[in-house]
Amino acid sequence: MRIDVVSIFPEYLSALDLSLIGKARQQGLLELTVTDLREFTTDRHRTVDDTPYGGGAGMVMKPEPWAAALGAVLGGGPAAGPGAAGERPVLVVPSPAGEVFTQATARDLALRKHLVFACGRYEGIDERVVDWSREHFEVRPMSLGDYVLNGGEVAVLAMVEAIGRLVPGVVGNPDSLVEESHADGLLEYPVYTKPALWRDRPVPEVLLSGHHGRIARWRRDRQLQRTAARRPDLVGSLDPTGLDRADRAVLAEAGWVVSGGRVVRAGDGAAGEPVA
Ligand code: ADE
Repeated sequence: MRIDVVSIFPEYLSALDLSLIGKARQQGLLELTVTDLREFTTDRHRTVDDTPYGGGAGMVMKPEPWAAALGAVLGGGPAAGPGAAGERPVLVVPSPAGEVFTQATARDLALRKHLVFACGRYEGIDERVVDWSREHFEVRPMSLGDYVLNGGEVAVLAMVEAIGRLVPGVVGNPDSLVEESHADGLLEYPVYTKPALWRDRPVPEVLLSGHHGRIARWRRDRQLQRTAARRPDLVGSLDPTGLDRADRAVLAEAGWVVSGGRVVRAGDGAAGEPVA
């Protein structure tokens, strides 16, 4: 996979030299290039921003350096640009005004050949850059969540890590991708390691039993309980056809029932189907 990041703070992205993503780059699984937007300015001060039309606080990123930088990214390398494999590169524009980036987004983007990340700063990038880019890229404004960062760089670090680890070969043991949080719409179960007794706290006995069936059930129960407690929004999105009787019993204890083909809160006008 080819990844380009355009930023006025290229050093910010140096964390991508480390750990699993750094290793994947060395192995050639990820071909990641960071481009300094200021190299595409034409004035002595290397200006990338200006005051907003219509007034208001802050500064807006100018269109010309962005168009030049994105044009260079499109022109660079055999895999770049439309036509190489009939697939347009994806332009991810991190922004609190974007669609929320989820594990499903990461899975989707991990299948693409070429991702370009445009790190905005200040109040954002002139909207015409986004419109123009649609002629050359599949444009995806993306938010990490409902809070405001100072720029796109931190969001890109998070997104590249989430996407990159799903590229085949990047994570050594692919089983670890199957059992983690959000893989199946649930949060992951709690984990323990040695010693079996630590500061008077024993590891749950079932995990020492060697009984794979009981362990799997215990873990699934913890996933369901934890998700109901911490992320009720995820419980409401579960597909009831994927829930067995034991799952439904755990959910019922947490106040959820299956009704009308959906998982809903007990008492929300839902009769509920029997759980046992
Ligand atoms: N830039 C500023 N805030 C952001 C957020 N929440 N997500 C992605 N990019 C951002």
